[in-house]
Parts: sequence; C-alpha cells; structure tokens
Amino acid sequence: MNTNFIYVVLYFGVCILNQRLALCGQQCRCLASNSSCWPSFAQWNNFNQSVGGCLFSPMPSAAVCNGITYNANRCNITKIYWSDGFWRSNQAGAMQNYNWENTSCSITTNSTMCNQGAVPVMAVNATLPEQVQATVNFAAASNIRLVIKSTGHDYLGRSAAAGSLLLWVHYMKNMTIINQYSWCGRENISNAARIGAGAQWGEVYEWLDGFNLTAVGGASASVSAVGGYLQGGGHSPLSRWKGLAADQVLEYDVILASGARQTVSPCQNGNLFWALSGGGGGTYAVVLSAVIRTFPSPYIVAATYGVTVPNQTRYATLIDSFVRLLSTVADAGWSGYFQMTDLTLTGIFIVPNGNMQAVNTTLNQFAANNSDLDFGGSAFFTLPSFFYFFAMALAPNNPTGFDVLLGSRLIPESIIRNYPSQVASVFVQAKGVSAMGSSLLGHLVAGGQVSNVSNFNNSVNPGWRSSLLHMVCTQSWLDTTAATDINYVIQLLANRTAMLNTLSATPQGSCYLNEANPNELNWQETFFGSSAIYAQLKSIKNTVDPNGLFVCNNCVGSDDWTSNLNCPKISSSTTKVNYSLFILFIAIITISF
Ligand SMILES: Cc1cc2nc3c(=O)[nH]c(=O)nc-3n(C[C@H](O)[C@H](O)[C@H](O)COP(=O)(O)OP(=O)(O)OC[C@H]3O[C@@H](n4cnc5c(N)ncnc54)[C@H](O)[C@@H]3O)c2cc1C
Ligand SMILES: *[C@@H]1O[C@H](CO)[C@@H](O)[C@H](O)[C@H]1NC(C)=O
Ligand SMILES: *[C@@H]1O[C@H](CO)[C@@H](O)[C@H](O)[C@H]1NC(C)=O
Ligand SMILES: *[C@@H]1O[C@H](CO)[C@@H](O)[C@H](O)[C@H]1NC(C)=O
Ligand SMILES: *[C@@H]1O[C@H](CO)[C@@H](O)[C@H](O)[C@H]1NC(C)=O
Ligand SMILES: *[C@@H]1O[C@H](CO)[C@@H](O)[C@H](O)[C@H]1NC(C)=O
Ligand SMILES: *[C@@H]1O[C@H](CO)[C@@H](O)[C@H](O)[C@H]1NC(C)=O
Ligand SMILES: *[C@@H]1O[C@H](CO)[C@@H](O)[C@H](O)[C@H]1NC(C)=O
Ligand SMILES: *[C@@H]1O[C@H](CO)[C@@H](O)[C@H](O)[C@H]1NC(C)=O
Ligand SMILES: *[C@@H]1O[C@H](CO)[C@@H](O)[C@H](O)[C@H]1NC(C)=O
Ligand SMILES: *[C@@H]1O[C@H](CO)[C@@H](O)[C@H](O)[C@H]1NC(C)=O
Ligand SMILES: *[C@@H]1O[C@H](CO)[C@@H](O)[C@H](O)[C@H]1NC(C)=O
Ligand SMILES: *[C@@H]1O[C@H](CO)[C@@H](O)[C@H](O)[C@H]1NC(C)=O
Repeated sequence: MNTNFIYVVLYFGVCILNQRLALCGQQCRCLASNSSCWPSFAQWNNFNQSVGGCLFSPMPSAAVCNGITYNANRCNITKIYWSDGFWRSNQAGAMQNYNWENTSCSITTNSTMCNQGAVPVMAVNATLPEQVQATVNFAAASNIRLVIKSTGHDYLGRSAAAGSLLLWVHYMKNMTIINQYSWCGRENISNAARIGAGAQWGEVYEWLDGFNLTAVGGASASVSAVGGYLQGGGHSPLSRWKGLAADQVLEYDVILASGARQTVSPCQNGNLFWALSGGGGGTYAVVLSAVIRTFPSPYIVAATYGVTVPNQTRYATLIDSFVRLLSTVADAGWSGYFQMTDLTLTGIFIVPNGNMQAVNTTLNQFAANNSDLDFGGSAFFTLPSFFYFFAMALAPNNPTGFDVLLGSRLIPESIIRNYPSQVASVFVQAKGVSAMGSSLLGHLVAGGQVSNVSNFNNSVNPGWRSSLLHMVCTQSWLDTTAATDINYVIQLLANRTAMLNTLSATPQGSCYLNEANPNELNWQETFFGSSAIYAQLKSIKNTVDPNGLFVCNNCVGSDDWTSNLNCPKISSSTTKVNYSLFILFIAIITISF
C-alpha cells in the first residue's frame, strides 16, 4: 500500500474523530504578510469595484502622532479625543480598549517603528447588504482572515486581527419603527424597532425618545446596539425591569458565511436565532439589523453616592452593610453600578418609575446607620425619561482608549441573600488598588426580570438567570509599562477574579462573556454556562459556518484553531497522530481491501 494513501486516510480519520470534517484539508488563513497568497493589487481593485469603491486601508489610532504618518494637526486632535468612545468608533482602525490594537504606536512617544499591530490592513466601509455579501464571499474565496467590527468596544480583542480584512458595519445606521409587528404569528407587538448594525445606544435612545419610547440597552452611548453587545447578552440599567437585551430580540436579518441573506426568528431558522441571542458576536453570521422590543419610557429616580473611610477595618464593615442594603433595594426594583477601590465606595442607583421619597428614606437610613461617615457626595434626582437620565448621568462617564483587561463573575442571588458577610469579605479582598491600576466594579443588573422572563428562547449563559450581581475586576496599565509588569498585573487580575469563585454556585463560576478575561481557563463552560450548551452552540456554528470563516478570540468554535486563530488545529495534529489511532486506521484499511 502507498504510504501517501495511508497518510490521507489517517488525516481524514483524525478529522472525523475530531468531528470537524469541514476543516479537514483546509490551509492556514492567508495574511497580508504572505505575498504568495495575498490577493494581488488587481484582485483588490476588482473587489473594491464590486463593493462600490468603499475599500480602504485603516490606520492605528495613534499613527498620526508617529513617524512617517505624523501629522501635527491630526495628532493634536487625536490627543484631545483619545478617550472619546464616538471618536474612536468613527475610525475603522481604532479599538476602544487600546491594547487590542497591539501596535507600537502611542500618543506618548513619536516612534519611527509605529506598526500596524492587530489593526486589520484592509477595510470595507459597508452600508449595504450587497457589500456585506461581496465581502463575505471575497474573504471565503481568498481564504483570508475576516473580522467583523461595529464599534471596537470588545474587551477580548474579537474585533481585531493582524493581517486581516475588516468588515466594518459602523455606518449601517438605519432605524425604523414597526407599529405592529406580528412575532411568528404568536404575539402582536406594538412599536418594535428595526435597528441597523452600526447604530449606537446613544443614538438609539435619543431617536426612541422622540416617540416617548426606550429599549433595554447599554450604559455606554457608543456601544453598538445589535452587534456584540446584544449578541453576547447585553445588560442594562433597565434589565432588572425588562430582562436582558438578548431577551428583547424578535428577529434578525443576517448574511451567512455562504453569502446568503436570511431572516432569523424563533419560527424561521430557530436554531440560529437561539445561538445569535446570547451565544456571542462575530461567530455565526453578520447581523445587518435586528428587530427589538421597545417600551414606553419610564421616568427615572436616581441617587448617586460616594464615601471614603479611614481604614481597612471600617471599609470591611461598610461593605458588609452595603451588601445587605443591595438585597433590600433589589426587592424594591432598584438597579445600579458601584465601584470599590482603595478605601472608597462610589455608585449610582436607578429606579424606573421609582418613588423618590422611598429612595431618599432608604439611603438616609443607610447613611444614619453609618453616621460616622460622610456621604456628602450623595444626590437625588427625578428625570422625566430614560434618555434624559442617560444623557445626564451615564453617557458622559464611559471614557475609553486605555490598555485594560477585565475578569468577571456572576454572583448568585441566593448567595448574596444568605451569606452577605462572606460576600462582603470577598469583595473587600478583591477590591481595586488605584496605585496598581485596578478596580472592582459591581453591576446590580441581574435578578428581577432577568430571572423572571418567562421564555428563555435564547442561549444567554444561564448563570445570568439565578444571579443578582455581575462583578467585574478591572486592570489597566500604561503604554510605557514594562512587559514583565504587565504580566504581573494580568496575573493579579486572574487571582482577584478567582477570589470571586468562592461566591459561585459551581467551583469555576460563570461570567458574562462580553466583560470577561480572554485568558480565562475553561472559558467554554464559564462563558456559555455548561459544556452541553457550548456543544449545542458549536453544532449550530458548524452547520451555518462549516469552514470557520467567522473566527474570533474565545468565540464558539475558536478552539478548533491555533492560538492566533489562523490555522485549523487539525492540520498540525495530523503530524502527531498517536500509535493507537495508527493501528485503528491500518486495521480499517486492511479490512476494506
Ligand atoms: C466603555 C464600555 C461600556 C460597556 N458597557 C456595557 C454595558 O452597559 N452592558 C453590557 O452588556 N456591555 C457593556 N460593554 C461591553 C460590550 O457589550 C462589549 O464590548 C461588546 O462586545 C460591544 O459590542 P460592539 O458591537 O459595540 O463592539 P465590537 O468590538 O465592534 O464587536 C464586538 C464583537 O461582536 C462582533 N460583531 C459586531 N457587530 C456585529 C454584527 N453586526 N454581526 C455579527 N457580529 C458582530 C464583532 O465581530 C466582535 O466579535 C461595555 C464595553 C465598553 C468598552
Ligand atoms: C503563504 O501562503 C502559501 C500559499 O497559501 C502557504 O503555502 C505558505 O505556508 C504561507 N506562508 C506562511 C508563512 O504562512
Ligand atoms: C477603492 O475605490 C475608491 C473609488 O474608486 C478609491 O477612492 C479607493 O482609494 C479604492 N481603495 C483602495 C484600497 O484602493
Ligand atoms: C515625529 O517624527 C516625525 C518623523 O519621524 C517628524 O517628522 C515629526 O516632526 C515628529 N514630531 C514630533 C512632535 O516630534
Ligand atoms: C498642537 O498643540 C500644541 C500644544 O498643545 C500647539 O503648540 C501646536 O500649535 C498645535 N499644532 C497644531 C498644528 O494645531
Ligand atoms: C501582539 O503583538 C506581538 C508582536 O508584536 C505578538 O507577539 C502578539 O502575539 C500580539 N498579541 C495579540 C493579542 O495580538
Ligand atoms: C464610510 O461611509 C460613510 C457613509 O457612506 C461615510 O460618511 C464615511 O466618510 C466613510 N468612511 C470612510 C473611512 O470611508
Ligand atoms: C437602509 O436604508 C436604505 C434606504 O432606505 C436601504 O437602501 C438599505 O438597504 C437599508 N440597509 C439595510 C441594511 O437594511
Ligand atoms: C394580531 O393582530 C391581527 C390583526 O389585528 C389579528 O388578526 C391576530 O389575531 C392578532 N394575533 C394575535 C396573536 O393576537
Ligand atoms: C411624548 O410625551 C409628551 C408628554 O407626555 C407629549 O407631550 C408628547 O406629545 C409625546 N410625544 C409623542 C411622539 O408621543
Ligand atoms: C478605623 O476607623 C474607625 C472608624 O473611624 C475607628 O473607630 C477605628 O479605631 C479605626 N481602626 C484602626 C485600626 O485605626
Ligand atoms: C430627602 O429627605 C430629607 C429628610 O430626610 C430631606 O431633608 C431632603 O430634602 C429630601 N431630599 C429630596 C431630594 O427629596
Ligand atoms: C497568583 O496566585 C498564584 C497561585 O496562588 C500565585 O502563585 C501567584 O504568585 C499570584 N500572583 C500574583 C501576581 O499575585
């Protein structure tokens, strides 16, 4: 028998055993650095014409402050707007969390070595479905690495990749109200809204406010509404009131990896609907737009607070009483955000259609119980609509442009209610240290309707349904921080996040995949809820995208690819076929001849 023949049989045998038949025989993705496979100038030109001339070369956001791309005027503007989420989102080459550009460019130095890093080398500025189709088809036919980006807010680097082609959906901003939307014939929904892939929450809220409506959306104005946010679950100041953002989707309009356009709802391509709603962005299809529920806007009662204590002992007792306060106010329908760093606790509470007097009474009681402390920074507001509240209190408070990683855990409601002292002591241990660039954020955005939504027809991590808090450890650093110091603080981050595991229902805990650590071990279970859910998502992924065109960090199916996500693992594993497999296939070959 011919050894090549045996080799081929072994190769496909291993592929089949790995249950990834489609990746068998596939080559590594072609990157811009490889001139022997990268499309020629003429091919790019043809492609550019097929997308109406909207192909261009994006630049890292600091390039205009460096080397040969230096431009005094644009560099000045860049320094001024560096932390502005809208300014960053308007540039194809800018990532909101700067570390994901992974370039040597910086606004603090003027480097002649400023490189492209992980910023895609080509980008399609898509506004039409046909341009998305052409881009998907071109990337598949050329076997080049494709990245989908709306705003670049991703904390796991899922909207960047070195040497890739970017499908930039930022300018797909169509928004329309559907007065009566018949949802699969089972429910008539009034004032549903179709939102394009590029629309950002600040724009959506403002537009809906014109109809006295609002929607379950993010706390940052520049995050996209129906991109990675909603597809990853989406928590909101309004999620305790109405459920997560993924719970509000009625329908998607998508372009599949095959280039086909498809309507996706519970009654049409229901498996894909289930996966797209919570199973992570950038994985199953390109979403052109989604139809979501809206609500008559509530008025908002809000309270801000800020307190600093004299020492660690006092901090521990303050946090203990604060954790007990959280379960009380959760019963009253409040949501909120808080931050624990050094000896300071700051935050905001939000109560849709709330009672100002009750909020005042509850917080005054809390202050009275801690009468040795100065809650002088506290303030109470009643605002006439959600948008009004958002524009005043939240929109100005989400600067970006930092080097940052997160690690997070969902904390079960039962543990917060039954073991408040244990919860408090873990929070105090995991709290941030400003001198180290760290913080501990608490998001009171779960429980309430997140736990009560009657029909979870989606793949949102079930950890959300039994939780009350989403706790986020943040760790930032500077462009000038040495690599060894970055490694050290990244370890610290993992250690602080692991502390929260003792507050979890399962040993390894569960987290929100959009605000998670890309270095998380066992991310398949922690991000998606269980190995069974992960397997279900992966089987849907393999059906709609058999060649893995849509591949991103810690996304479903990415574990079939090497760590840079450019080569199917299968091709390298064939060289390491173990002895027992060898015997097995020799046996099969012998039997079949
Ligand atoms: C400052 C800040 C505030 C945040 N606040 C909140 C919050 O209040 N609540 C919350 O839940 N999360 C919040 N997040 C996290 C946020 O949900 C994620 O960063 C999310 O990935 C952003 O989605 P995006 O589309 O805007 O970002 P992008 O980085 O553009 O995309 C994220 C992922 O989605 C994919 N994607 C984007 N558009 C599409 C599309 N049209 N079709 C298919 N895939 C697509 C991308 O490929 C990528 O994998 C915040 C993040 C930041 C940086
Ligand atoms: C470059 O592309 C060719 C053709 O696809 C491939 O054989 C080769 O391995 C690639 N080289 C690198 C360094 O990836
Ligand atoms: C694509 O075509 C447009 C219009 O013809 C042109 O302005 C643009 O430079 C082209 N892009 C690239 C990358 O060549
Ligand atoms: C940055 O470097 C470029 C060339 O390397 C130079 O032209 C430019 O003047 C420099 N800018 C500053 C502010 O030093
Ligand atoms: C850039 O800013 C510096 C100081 O902030 C100023 O001196 C300089 O004139 C500005 N340059 C341009 C081109 O605006
Ligand atoms: C960042 O770039 C370096 C090389 O400059 C590379 O080794 C590393 O893998 C890149 N990291 C990411 C996350 O892209
Ligand atoms: C992208 O397209 C939009 C809308 O057509 C346009 O306003 C914008 O200038 C374009 N941006 C780039 C970088 O091509
Ligand atoms: C957005 O609206 C324009 C004009 O109505 C239309 O041509 C385009 O197809 C729409 N885009 C999407 C993604 O629906
Ligand atoms: C939805 O409205 C239509 C037209 O008014 C009506 O015929 C239908 O019965 C309604 N469907 C449901 C589920 O209420
Ligand atoms: C919104 O509500 C205000 C106040 O109740 C009312 O005056 C206005 O007409 C409403 N606008 C719309 C579009 O319904
Ligand atoms: C910490 O502060 C509290 C309250 O201000 C005070 O009573 C206590 O003595 C302090 N403890 C230490 C160890 O300084
Ligand atoms: C809150 O209650 C206190 C009395 O407990 C009162 O002095 C204060 O005016 C109230 N504030 C608001 C905004 O209602
Ligand atoms: C993190 O925890 C590990 C295991 O407990 C420990 O070895 C390591 O020193 C810790 N790293 C930091 C930076 O605290």
